[in-house]
Amino acid sequence: MDLLPGALILCSLLCSVAGQAPVISIEPRAATVRQGETVSFRCEVTSGAQPIQLEWRRANNQALPDNAKIGPDGSVLTFANARTGNQGQYRCLAANSVGRKSATAMLTVKNPPKVRLTPAGPLQVRMGDPVSVECRGTGRPRPTLMWKRLGSTLQLVTTETSDVNTIQWPAVRPEDSGVYICQAENSEGVNEVKIEIFVEGVLGAPVASVSPTEMTVVEGHTVTIQCQASGSPPPVITWSKLRAPLPWKHTVAGGALTLTSVGRQDSGQYICNATNIHGYSEAYTQMEVETPPYATCLPDQVRLHPGDALQLQCLAHGSHPIQFSWSRPGRAGLPAGVQTTKDGKLLIAHVKLNDGGTYKCVATNHVGSSEATAKVIIKP
Ligand SMILES: *[C@@H]1O[C@H](CO)[C@@H](O)[C@H](O)[C@H]1NC(C)=O
Repeated sequence: MDLLPGALILCSLLCSVAGQAPVISIEPRAATVRQGETVSFRCEVTSGAQPIQLEWRRANNQALPDNAKIGPDGSVLTFANARTGNQGQYRCLAANSVGRKSATAMLTVKNPPKVRLTPAGPLQVRMGDPVSVECRGTGRPRPTLMWKRLGSTLQLVTTETSDVNTIQWPAVRPEDSGVYICQAENSEGVNEVKIEIFVEGVLGAPVASVSPTEMTVVEGHTVTIQCQASGSPPPVITWSKLRAPLPWKHTVAGGALTLTSVGRQDSGQYICNATNIHGYSEAYTQMEVETPPYATCLPDQVRLHPGDALQLQCLAHGSHPIQFSWSRPGRAGLPAGVQTTKDGKLLIAHVKLNDGGTYKCVATNHVGSSEATAKVIIKP
């Protein structure tokens, strides 16, 4: 018992440490690996009264997976051949005579995406029904989900980082029938799932189609758009223009719409509407009218003194892109020191007497060209 006073002195110095619950940390606190890789977490004891017992568990208290091994001193948790199911939180528990502490680590296992559709399809629906198909993707990192329609590169919807991407129609039409693909992609791979949607028309209901569905016409030309419609009784065809009245110079004959001498303002979408007692069907055509340039010079006449600055602007209406070029009629070329810009400007910082005369601008696009002139008068 003569040891006791010494022990008390020692305790007064060390009991603050010796009488402590364990203090621990995990290194690393989070790890991301690919499937099949090996990863370890070390539970480090920084202080606390010895002996300290270490134990590893899943954060949800379930048993450790069978590919998880614990090292001889209980501090290192290793996953050999990591798999998707290993993903989750792991807890290191440390206990001594004074108390218990725990720390948590997160394991993420990268894996290629999986996709699932709800409903799975094939889908048989009736014309006019609302339809929606939900595509749900899983995988690490979180995949990008994209809907496509077979036979075209059309991207219907793209959602970067959401778990769900849904395609939907408030009212399907027979022409929406087809195969749709939801594709999920992340750094680990690509996966896709198809669904066939078949839209049944009502017997005898009209189905309209137009040709061409897209066209580019030069101003002043005459165009005819054909509309074909099936259905019983034979549907009545009417034409309209989206958000505008039909051009004044139009005629409709046998379902075909003819536009005479089209102008720029006639560009837009034309709609063929086939109607009978069972319903109606709309088909769209997109028309772009291209116009040759119409050029003007600003100013078209200018009086200057030698040493003044000259600036001429060539302006042009018409379909883009428009190129501008400047010249001096009857002269070999532009005077030295002339600057021209892509947008039709001509600049001379300090004019000389012989810079006077006529300047010509030619504006060109792929339909045609137009010219305009400016007169520059220089007096001493
Ligand atoms: C087509 O006709 C139907 C029935 O008459 C009508 O409800 C619909 O609005 C029409 N569509 C267009 C674009 O005019």
